[in-house]
Amino acid sequence: MERNVKKIVSQMTLEEKAGMCSGKDFWHLKSVERLGIPEVMVSDGPHGLRKQAENADHLGINESIKAVCFPTACATACSFDRDLLEEMGSALGKECQAENVSVLLGPAVNIKRSPLCGRNFEYFSEDPYLAGQMAKAHIQGVQKEGVGTSIKHFAANNQEYHRMSASSEVDERTLREIYLAAFETPIKEAKPKTVMCSYNQINGVFASEDPWLLDEVLRKEWGYEGYVMSDWGAVNERVPGLKAGLELEMPASGGETDRQIVEAVKNGTLKEEILDRAVERILNVIFDYVDHKKDEVFDMEKDHALAEKVETESMVLLKNEGILPLKKGSRVAFIGAFAKNPRYQGGGSSHINSFRVTGALEAAEGMADITYAEGYGLEKDEIDEALVTEAVKAAKEAEAAVIFAGLPDAFESEGYDRVHMKMPNCQNHLIQEVCNVQPNVVVVLHNGSPVEMPWADEVKGILEAYLGGQAVGAAEAKILFGDANPCGKLAETIPYKLSDNPSYLNFPGDGETVEYKEGIFVGYRYYDKKEMPVRYPFGYGLSYTEFAYSNLKLDKKSMKDTDTLTVSVDVSNTGNREGKEIVQLYVADQTGSANRPVRELKNFVKVSLAPGETKTVQMELNKRSFAWYNVKLHDWYAASGTYEIQLGKSSREIVLSDTVEVTTDVTVPVEIHKNTTVGQLMRDPKAAAFLQETMGEMMKTLGGGGEASTEAISPEMIQGMLESMPLRGLRSFAGLSEEGLNQLVEKLRSL
Ligand code: BGC
Repeated sequence: MERNVKKIVSQMTLEEKAGMCSGKDFWHLKSVERLGIPEVMVSDGPHGLRKQAENADHLGINESIKAVCFPTACATACSFDRDLLEEMGSALGKECQAENVSVLLGPAVNIKRSPLCGRNFEYFSEDPYLAGQMAKAHIQGVQKEGVGTSIKHFAANNQEYHRMSASSEVDERTLREIYLAAFETPIKEAKPKTVMCSYNQINGVFASEDPWLLDEVLRKEWGYEGYVMSDWGAVNERVPGLKAGLELEMPASGGETDRQIVEAVKNGTLKEEILDRAVERILNVIFDYVDHKKDEVFDMEKDHALAEKVETESMVLLKNEGILPLKKGSRVAFIGAFAKNPRYQGGGSSHINSFRVTGALEAAEGMADITYAEGYGLEKDEIDEALVTEAVKAAKEAEAAVIFAGLPDAFESEGYDRVHMKMPNCQNHLIQEVCNVQPNVVVVLHNGSPVEMPWADEVKGILEAYLGGQAVGAAEAKILFGDANPCGKLAETIPYKLSDNPSYLNFPGDGETVEYKEGIFVGYRYYDKKEMPVRYPFGYGLSYTEFAYSNLKLDKKSMKDTDTLTVSVDVSNTGNREGKEIVQLYVADQTGSANRPVRELKNFVKVSLAPGETKTVQMELNKRSFAWYNVKLHDWYAASGTYEIQLGKSSREIVLSDTVEVTTDVTVPVEIHKNTTVGQLMRDPKAAAFLQETMGEMMKTLGGGGEASTEAISPEMIQGMLESMPLRGLRSFAGLSEEGLNQLVEKLRSL
């Protein structure tokens, strides 16, 4: 419907406009009936609808309507499946339409910096490309149903400890390449209707009042047109927040901050245009929802089935020494409380009131002769000898034992971080005891973030279910008994132990600040650079079939940084059952232009193949795939030189590679003064040419001159020394006068 939003804003009173910039209550925005502005509702998100009718709270404490809990982001990211995430998003969008929810709060794309972050289960990955791709598909799915999303929590909110006040201290290159990058692609390409700013400060400025973040980067650089809302209670100072670009404060402020806005306009400290623009942005999103309102039914059965499909496509088979799939009809012991009542979601604001939960015990009925033993209690981490004895007996009498283990609710949640990476001691003990009597043991894990696995070498199979949504048991049964073929791969590295993690020495900080000292070396970027063994690498996951790659082709061997490179490869299913492979494309910078990770994921494709079938898959790379963020340029920079294109089954299993030469016209400016080194100057083409021509002779004398010194110092050695020689050194070692030095600096500056 054609509507003149500017005109509506011009008809609003100052008080109405200020009122539009904060919630009416916990979940609603205000209406202005006389102008046809309706009251709209927002709800959490991200992996289900948590619509609260009464007793509103933002930590999932009070019950919301019955709904469907889809697998959480830690699981869905492992699908590496854009279409699947879009399908799930679209189902969520329809649910919102049916329930009159205008914005679904999510997805959450914060990077998994440490395995300890209590909220990792809601986040996709340690890798910004993967997180961004998954978020983009999720947003597109929800928004194609006419419902908005709120990508969150913008930005650098990677822990729960002091999340509402602490400052994340992050250098700009790291922010750009890792933490902001996960937001950038979905914001530019999927255009979420809203962005939710985070609670924390970034380098000493609250995200909710950071003009650099909310205006420079989000609006000016990324061209964002929706509105920014605060996380619940994230507003520090309202008027500075509004000026910086925070349009909507949530939840309601009891009118207090509305009055502050009115006052600021009246006393001239806030320009009314800023308020008008904020209101216009909020109204645009409200009316967009109104104009796309449709009748939908919340079909819970259908969405439960979709939740099962999503989890089946997401689970990661970590280990399989010929034990899986289990033989149908065989005698199997299902051990562990999670077999009956699986842990399938995390605590906090994303908590869904599931209309049904399917555990593996129920789902596997009829597939085999199954005995069940509880094995451990969930209330306390205490070994219960009676439960262990019962489990050991069940395991002994069966042909195989499947232990459903993982983290109890209290171990990880929104609101606080984990204190270690271990599973409950009682569960580790149980697994050990079962392994002592039964050689055929499979462990199925229910956890939102990696755990240490001291028993990994003793069991024959490990299936990572993550927090797999309310239909998790059905998906598990299908995979365990071979009705489905596992096809997920890890969206994060599983280190052997917590202290291996790059953030270990600086997580979670002192409560006031947390320093991201590992910089860009997050997740596999660190483990690979350090050549550190890990339990399971990023991108890893097994299938019941085998895949082979061949015929890697690049459509060009050299390119400008502005060109697109098309990479193709043949993927074959060499096993005897249908399966899906996730082909990963990594780029390895060999130009030496900066300290960079060994390789970085820059594209991927998931392909389904019948036994014996081969398909050619294609992926594209562009400037961003090669570039790093150069703070001197304030831009992305792909240096001229060689880049290796690596095709991998995981980040640690590169099977094919080739190289491409990239050239750029961009030069990185060198600041020239008497302490600029010869090495720095030699990387600037003009300065290098000048120095070579005019200084050649002078430089030769650097070794002291004469025959003897030429013997003692080779030209290579001179070159090496010159790299770190400031121009000033030419005065001391090459006989240049002070005046000559000044002239040289001037000359180089003028080139
Ligand atoms: C969470 C958000 C959530 C909001 C509303 C906050 O505590 O950080 O992710 O959307 O509450 O429940």
